[in-house]
Amino acid sequence: MKKQTLLFILVLCCFIHTYGQQQFQPGAIWPDSDGRHINAHGGGILYYGDTYYWFGEFKTEGKAGNRAWIGISCYSSKDLYTWKNEGIALPVVDDPTSEITKGCVIERPKVIYNAKTRKFVLWFHLELKEQGYSAARTAVAVSDKPTGPYTYIRSYRPNRKTWPINFEKAWQTKAVNESELKAHTDPWRKEVAEGLFVRRDFEKGQMSRDMTLFVDDDGKAYHIHSAEENLTLHVSELTDDYLSFTGKWATIAPAGHNEAPALIKRNGKYILVTSGCTGWEPNAARSFVSDSIWGPWRSLGNPAQGENAGRTFESQSTYILPVQGRKDQYIFMADRWVPDNAIDGRYIWLPLTFDGDKPVIKWFDKWSLEQLANP
Ligand code: DGJ
Repeated sequence: MKKQTLLFILVLCCFIHTYGQQQFQPGAIWPDSDGRHINAHGGGILYYGDTYYWFGEFKTEGKAGNRAWIGISCYSSKDLYTWKNEGIALPVVDDPTSEITKGCVIERPKVIYNAKTRKFVLWFHLELKEQGYSAARTAVAVSDKPTGPYTYIRSYRPNRKTWPINFEKAWQTKAVNESELKAHTDPWRKEVAEGLFVRRDFEKGQMSRDMTLFVDDDGKAYHIHSAEENLTLHVSELTDDYLSFTGKWATIAPAGHNEAPALIKRNGKYILVTSGCTGWEPNAARSFVSDSIWGPWRSLGNPAQGENAGRTFESQSTYILPVQGRKDQYIFMADRWVPDNAIDGRYIWLPLTFDGDKPVIKWFDKWSLEQLANP
């Protein structure tokens, strides 16, 4: 074979190899740089320096693999296609007296960077071991490095003994005869909106399950989580060091049954994508827009479009990633759960575009960032 032909074949092979990696394949096995399927479920992404850091739930085999036996994983990437395993950012521990003992439930970890303290702050949903989903706590840990190790601080139910800012004074002391109220009826929904569960949890602190974090342009950070038995989302301001709650908070979509919140700010407006509440089973995503993080939020309906939009392409939202260096380009990140064999869960990453303020998510078998401008 001629030298030039050999060179041509070599270049072609390199191109095919590179091009093959430069695509997202929603729902496929996604090998990390060691060739193992990425293990970072219910995840979120931090962009720091020139690197993306993906944090997620490290799942193991079987049904029990939905509980935390290892901890919170971290992967890094410069291009979003290839991910290096950075190990376990926060391990669960052998100590049965610890809140993060092996076998607890750790879900939806998110990390943000605090420029003032120069610390990386990790929050996640924590359920105490052998208590099902009843603890409904949020937990915080901190590190000097994005990849960790993170030092566990504590867990709790937030906003104890504080009322939401979008709450009428009369609702604080409202007496309701619950035996006359039928759940999921309009009168019941009205009572939920007027504080039925907020009052119930006032002393103990509000429930906190599915969660996300959001850092605004002014550096203020917010914790958004499913509360009130997953009926209502709460948005809460974090302190300047991002390590606790200031006590300023508001409800979003009362009695709307929203989970899996993901929030971005675009053109000065806050855009929220959520799911309904059907356990591990997919349902139709929802979207909302607001001029202020404190609401009022306007529903914009299901952002997914096309075949299987009613089940969000068999997935549930976890994060919306603004692509760095590209104006107005976002990736919708979601999980395709496999509850009977948790480790086999897949990632659904799709372009998130806009029709006015309404987010739009369409299915692609394969796609690349280059297509994002005009997907
Ligand atoms: C749906 C939530 O979004 C998940 O994070 C997880 O908590 C499952 N429910 C558990 O059924």
